[in-house]
Amino acid sequence: MAVDLLLGLQWGDEGKGKIVDVLTKNYDIIARFQGGPNAGHTLEFDGIKHVLHTIPSGIFHDNAVNLVGNGVVIDPVIFKKELDNLAKFNRDFTKNLLISRKAHLILPTHRLLDAASEASKGKAKIGSTLKGIGPTYMDKTGRNGIRVGDLELSNWQDKYRNLANKHEAMIDFYNVDLQYNLAELEAEFFEAIEVLKTLQFIDSEEYLHQAQKNNKTILAEGAQGSLLDIDFGTYPFVTSSNTTAAGACTGLGVAPGAINEVFGIFKAYTTRVGSGPFPTELFDSYGETMGRVGNEFGATTGRPRRCGWLDLVALKYAVQVNGVTQLMMMKGDVLSGFDKLKVCTAYNYKGEKITHLPYNIEAENVTPIYTEMEGWKEDLTKMNDASQLPKALNNYIAFLEKELEVPIKIVSVGPDRTQTIHR
Ligand code: GDP
Ligand code: IMO
Ligand code: MG
Repeated sequence: MAVDLLLGLQWGDEGKGKIVDVLTKNYDIIARFQGGPNAGHTLEFDGIKHVLHTIPSGIFHDNAVNLVGNGVVIDPVIFKKELDNLAKFNRDFTKNLLISRKAHLILPTHRLLDAASEASKGKAKIGSTLKGIGPTYMDKTGRNGIRVGDLELSNWQDKYRNLANKHEAMIDFYNVDLQYNLAELEAEFFEAIEVLKTLQFIDSEEYLHQAQKNNKTILAEGAQGSLLDIDFGTYPFVTSSNTTAAGACTGLGVAPGAINEVFGIFKAYTTRVGSGPFPTELFDSYGETMGRVGNEFGATTGRPRRCGWLDLVALKYAVQVNGVTQLMMMKGDVLSGFDKLKVCTAYNYKGEKITHLPYNIEAENVTPIYTEMEGWKEDLTKMNDASQLPKALNNYIAFLEKELEVPIKIVSVGPDRTQTIHR
């Protein structure tokens, strides 16, 4: 059986957690393929809001196995907190939770290195989530990392000590004012490692291979968004993994030919948290309304998200890079009451009109060219059928489908599981 992918097409926080939860009833296995606790995936049902960072968003369904793939980086301390948060629901979530032996571990010193690197950059900082993501992937590609499977070896703590000592020297090299107590951080880390070790570690690529042979249905869950991809995003203001479709192949060991549907999720407008260029960013009352009505605060860091109009130049690029086969539009409800809506359909790039995403999209090079559309007044949040959607919203959807050449199959009209309209 084939593997379907679900990916964010913008700068993250599109609503991936919600949609994975909605789709999980159709799948046997939900597999996270990259990123780590920089992600914050929100699910809402029965009046309760859940935020997941490392654990896949299918965890609340008894029938699904949730796999943390080899491409993910795991902070045992945050992972333990996620498990603690689930414990109050009085169900054994761990029986359906598998961890790849090849996933890399985030050490306390990785987090410190992230902070030191950001502090040393001053104004040029990435705006990282400070979860140690960059330094951990650097150790992975530098072939120094510690993997989950290492925890089964008797000498892994020697490897840990050597790496942590090296990190401390690197932190000194940054020469920034960073206060920390490593002994305390390590006590918490080693305690969390013992909790992690109670979970099932597996050879996940083999597990997924057998699952495919046995006709199991698999949904790969992405983190972050395409514009934060290490290769295709707005470098250097990106994360340190491949967030695009190819990342699912390397992050799970799934062959390219095994991929079937590629679900691309986007917000009806655009948000970004952290630094970096954002051509359609708004600094006026429209942007303020999006942030307020959309409750645009980071699920991991609580930072306010920057807001702006939908950018079809960037979205088209993401659709192409990922080979998106179905689109899902989130948060249309947030735009209810806007008298007009703007959609960026081209850029003025150094005086020339272009419709592709160029190398450099800083404000000095790019001015968005907008198409203006009529807004809708109706409250969408109680609607549950496509026939109820207002005419102006249907026009907006039709315009996007024509431009992107991919059908919009889901329109989300609120954070709850039930506020989901299938088309
Ligand atoms: P993710 O990282 O892609 O899973 O997205 P986040 O959870 O970081 O951010 C999406 C936010 O929007 C969360 O607070 C969701 O509860 C919320 N959300 C998701 N879909 C909708 C929607 O259609 N309308 C509204 N108003 N909120 C939504
Ligand atoms: P989800 O999965 C939004 C951003 C950070 C920063 C940059 C690099 O919830 O969509 P990092 O900590 O990865 O080194 O930070 O990437 N970022 C996200 N923005 N949603 C996310 O995840 C993000 N994960 C990282 O804000 O700009
Ligand atoms: Mg998020």
